[in-house]
Amino acid sequence: MILVTGGAGFIGGNFVLDWLADPSAESIVNLDKLTYAGNLATLEPLKNDTRHVFIHGDIGDQELVKRLLAQYKPMAIVNFAAESHVDRSIHGPAEFVQTNIVGTFNLLECAREYWNSLEGNAKEAFRFHHVSTDEVYGSLSATDPAFTETKAFEPNSPYSASKAASDHLVRAWFHTYGFPVVTTNCSNNYGPYHFPEKLIPLVILNALNSKPLPIYGDGQQVRDWLYVGDHCSAIRQVLAKGKLGETYNIGGWNEKANIEVVNTICNILDELKSRADGVPYASQITYVKDRPGHDRRYAIDASKVERELGWRPAETFETGILKTVQWYLDNPAWIDGVVSGSYRDWLQKQYT
Ligand code: NAD
Ligand code: TYD
Repeated sequence: MILVTGGAGFIGGNFVLDWLADPSAESIVNLDKLTYAGNLATLEPLKNDTRHVFIHGDIGDQELVKRLLAQYKPMAIVNFAAESHVDRSIHGPAEFVQTNIVGTFNLLECAREYWNSLEGNAKEAFRFHHVSTDEVYGSLSATDPAFTETKAFEPNSPYSASKAASDHLVRAWFHTYGFPVVTTNCSNNYGPYHFPEKLIPLVILNALNSKPLPIYGDGQQVRDWLYVGDHCSAIRQVLAKGKLGETYNIGGWNEKANIEVVNTICNILDELKSRADGVPYASQITYVKDRPGHDRRYAIDASKVERELGWRPAETFETGILKTVQWYLDNPAWIDGVVSGSYRDWLQKQYT
């Protein structure tokens, strides 16, 4: 058994589905608080699969986490649970401190106590895999080299600061207590089941709903984009083969300016589902006020994970984005389920 936290969210949900696609895979206990970002519809394909046990709860709930560890005796914990949206962290940072820092601290402490109670092979094999972001490294200029694992942390948003704090805790639990951790710092993910507050799904849905496609500032901010299935395969590889106490950068070797990403999506939609009036979707692009403290560029040097663990992404941006747009066209029921009242309230707050 493995314990996955945040497995009803975007990446955690994809990870659970990918993991259980292998009939010989260990079962999963999935602990998720079901915040606005958690969605049980993502896990619908597993409703008759007894290898998936869903627990509605908080990683900050010490009693619950201890009980789950004692009951299910997992051989690993993969920690996805987090508040993950930079813009929301600007409006309300408190939840980010609570879940990303205090929640991770609680999980580490409960897991350490559990690990101390293990013996022999079970103790030897146990892993705590912390899933983190490239945003902890801060912002690059156009000519800076890409982030390596030794780049100093310089987080600039409440979100990235809270993730950086959690990464530090995980590191310290290894050095101080010998607790068996691995950490991955990944670039921007995209793909199926992505909540439409983030750039790529927001643009796809707004385009189809004849709404403006909001570009913050000049649209020249650069992100490295990784297809979510590739992130899942990287986590599986690091969990299986990663060296204890190490961090691994995970990226897609796909640096793109935001405006380029949005234009690509518009072009694909023009091909797959053109507007009734024949006007290109790019005509809906609207430049809006920039995000405060907006990081200019992220770029990941993912050569360590390739060199040491033999992992490379399978998708290019071109293949991944095509699959992603097609997935949103093919899954209107999932989309209807997430664009609830609270989602509309968020759009109102952020974009008007
Ligand atoms: P998400 O916001 O889509 O999902 C987060 C999930 O965690 C949700 O299901 C939510 O209900 C759950 N959750 C939140 N607080 C919780 C709590 N206190 N206890 C239990 N569950 C809780 O996020 P995501 O995009 O899937 O990101 C997953 C992880 O990957 C995060 O740690 C994030 O920092 C990291 N990450 C994300 C990206 C990206 O591009 N999305 C890139 C690199 C790293
Ligand atoms: P986002 O998907 O929020 O991810 P992150 O902030 O974690 O990188 O944003 C990706 C990029 O797109 C980022 O530079 C902000 C920009 N962006 C827009 O230009 N417009 C939008 O409406 C959103 C949500 C993001």
